[in-house]
Amino acid sequence: SLNRPRAKIAHVYRGTFMHSTQDTTLEIIEDALLGVDTVGKIAFIGKGSEQDKLSQTFRFSSSNVTQLKQHEFFMPGMVDTHIHAPQYSYTGTAMDLPLLQWLNTYTFPVESRFKDLKFAHRVYTEVVKRTLKNGTTTACYFATIHTDASLLLGKIANDFGQRAFVGKVCMDRNKSDYKETTQECQKETCRFIAELLNKKYPLVKPVVTPRFAPSCTGDLLGQLGAIARKNNLHIQSHISENVDEVKLVKELFPESKSYTDVYHKYNLLTDKTVMAHGCHLTDEELTLFSETGASLSHCPNSNISLCSGLLNVRNVLKHKVKLGLGTDVAGGYSASMLDAVRRTLDTSKVLTIQNPKHQALTFDEVFRLATLGGSQALFLDDQTGNFEVGKDFDALRVNVAPPGGPIDLILCDKPKIQLEKFLNLGDDRNIVEVFVAGRKVVPFMEPAAE
Ligand code: GUN
Ligand code: FE
Repeated sequence: SLNRPRAKIAHVYRGTFMHSTQDTTLEIIEDALLGVDTVGKIAFIGKGSEQDKLSQTFRFSSSNVTQLKQHEFFMPGMVDTHIHAPQYSYTGTAMDLPLLQWLNTYTFPVESRFKDLKFAHRVYTEVVKRTLKNGTTTACYFATIHTDASLLLGKIANDFGQRAFVGKVCMDRNKSDYKETTQECQKETCRFIAELLNKKYPLVKPVVTPRFAPSCTGDLLGQLGAIARKNNLHIQSHISENVDEVKLVKELFPESKSYTDVYHKYNLLTDKTVMAHGCHLTDEELTLFSETGASLSHCPNSNISLCSGLLNVRNVLKHKVKLGLGTDVAGGYSASMLDAVRRTLDTSKVLTIQNPKHQALTFDEVFRLATLGGSQALFLDDQTGNFEVGKDFDALRVNVAPPGGPIDLILCDKPKIQLEKFLNLGDDRNIVEVFVAGRKVVPFMEPAAE
């Protein structure tokens, strides 16, 4: 249906809207009129020229209509399907080692510090603000092994109004003492889930988070699979990021046919699973993703920065595996989804350089991955990802020509060109306002006092 006439309208916006749909990577609706109801859902989207008719049907007055300025448009908020919130503390450094050494040398010592709630508060506040400002309306976060600090991340996302999945990280196998026992992992995961759900944050949900197979025993993976199934929860982890890691998994789980098979065996591949990287997955493994409905998070900055590999997105899409983009802070050095868009395009072009038969992704295909694709990957596409009536209004108000901004000359008023320019050259100065579930969250709201 195109509208929900009984909804009570809170806001109406008039201007250009650009989004992706099931059928098309880029739909441009010029001079559209979009109404948001009092619970933050899109009540109608129609033609601006029919404002009089729409205002009667939906009972809003023309003084309630916000008209976009020249050089402005709305696009759906971006979905970061994979980001490590604690690692924000060292983004832009430590890019000189391959994955397994990188984890031991930089990551585990830093994550250990998040036992300290004061430190956690400082870093988590910054990462939520930075990602929101850069247009991430939904983030799928890894926290650390510390339950209370992970709960704090949920609170901070809720306070700033970001839609978020938060995972308390589980690992019972590690050289250093940054780990828990199998029993602690299980008990603390249950406490994390219960306490986070108990807060009743409307947009923040727990996600079951085994770090990755090499840092988990089979026992732990099985228990986490059971917890996720029993509570019908999301699951996130890493898979086939780097060849040494794939080799290690073969050694640690000799009975499994493949890396994917390890997770599958422990019931960790479901339609609510998102696995990061997957650079080295075989076609057979991709087929298992497709059959189980599990999705992939493409993290191109990280894949290149840690010299992990190049994910062939075209091949993933060919296998009908759901795919979103991730920043993978701090394996990826940028917390901005605009960077993930650019690195996705670069990676795809590198594959074309290597093999001219490879068909590089277009900017509008990548636009879809950053928005609707991410929503699909997180099983949220009945709720977010584009401007369909009935979905939550998660949106960016973009101005491609802010005074002193990064884009000099707009010689063309075509919306498609404006979008392309924004994706390739824009930054947070272009993101004038950010909405999550109809609520304006950038410029920042003041978090409620304690
Ligand atoms: N694999 C297991 N843990 C991590 C992590 O923190 N970052 C990345 N990039 N890969 C991982
Ligand atoms: Fe990661």
